[in-house]
Amino acid sequence: MKILKEFTKDEAILKILQKYQFKTENFLPILLEIQGKKNGLNTETLDYLANELKVEPSLFYGIATFYHFLNPKKKARYNIYLCRDCTCELKGNKKILKTLEKILNLKIGETSPDNKFSLNLTSCLGSCDKAPAMLINKDLYNKLSPKRIIKIIEKL
Ligand code: FES
Repeated sequence: MKILKEFTKDEAILKILQKYQFKTENFLPILLEIQGKKNGLNTETLDYLANELKVEPSLFYGIATFYHFLNPKKKARYNIYLCRDCTCELKGNKKILKTLEKILNLKIGETSPDNKFSLNLTSCLGSCDKAPAMLINKDLYNKLSPKRIIKIIEKL
């Protein structure tokens, strides 16, 4: 016999789901917004989300543990996640990484002494058609070039 769990409606999460039309293909922005709103992702939140979207909770557990930026522990004020996957590699993510390392004076996995920046690699961000791509906290940047990277970082 299957035991059904009762969930109390969470208006904040429902508002985010409505924004993304309850579509599971929008899982990344949905999880990022919920993480920001709830200050992290815990199992209750992921269970509730899975229930609302009528999918197995394991789907969201897998996603939340796969993507480093869905880790609730914040490293720095600006956490940079450069995509390391195939399309971004073909489109020159190594040049982007070199530029980031140079202007931030950081290596992958490091955080600046003032905690302003952390530099990380991540898996595909779903922006392959506009590669190379990166996230800074929850903001997606794509069609990156060394020149553009410098401008983006200067504005932070
Ligand atoms: S491979 Fe980089 S966004 Fe898909």
